[in-house]
Amino acid sequence: AAERSLVLIKPDAVRRGLVGEILGRFERKGLVIEEMVLRTMDAELADQHYAEHVDKAFYPPLKDFMTGGPLVAVVISGDEAIDVVRAMIGATDGRKAAAGTLRGDLSLSNRENLVHASDSPDSAKRELALWFPHL
Ligand code: CMP
Repeated sequence: AAERSLVLIKPDAVRRGLVGEILGRFERKGLVIEEMVLRTMDAELADQHYAEHVDKAFYPPLKDFMTGGPLVAVVISGDEAIDVVRAMIGATDGRKAAAGTLRGDLSLSNRENLVHASDSPDSAKRELALWFPHL
């Protein structure tokens, strides 16, 4: 069934000039870009977005990274878009992500892994409300 997912093209991808490459892969797959904005995350939004990670050891450097430059927030829709986008992104750690995935092809880091995407219908609903409250 048709779904919406929240995708963040992270600051490392913007810095490296990979926004077009990443959006192009989603477009060629047949997914639809419904909304998009270039924005720099502030500390409050980072804590809300990553609520499940705020107490983890990797969170402080993750927060510095995610608030350290502009990112592109995108609403992507399509049939089973949540799982389809996750599969296209690959495993969290770019060193272990399969070739053919975005992270597998373009990232060599567990933190600077280019893209975030909602991992379930519940997280999509929560994250879309945070980033695109009018939807
Ligand atoms: P993301 O899909 O945005 O969800 C949480 C993020 O935390 C993840 O991508 C990585 O950027 C980062 N992350 C997760 N696990 C680790 C880790 N063990 N070390 C460093 N960063 C991590």
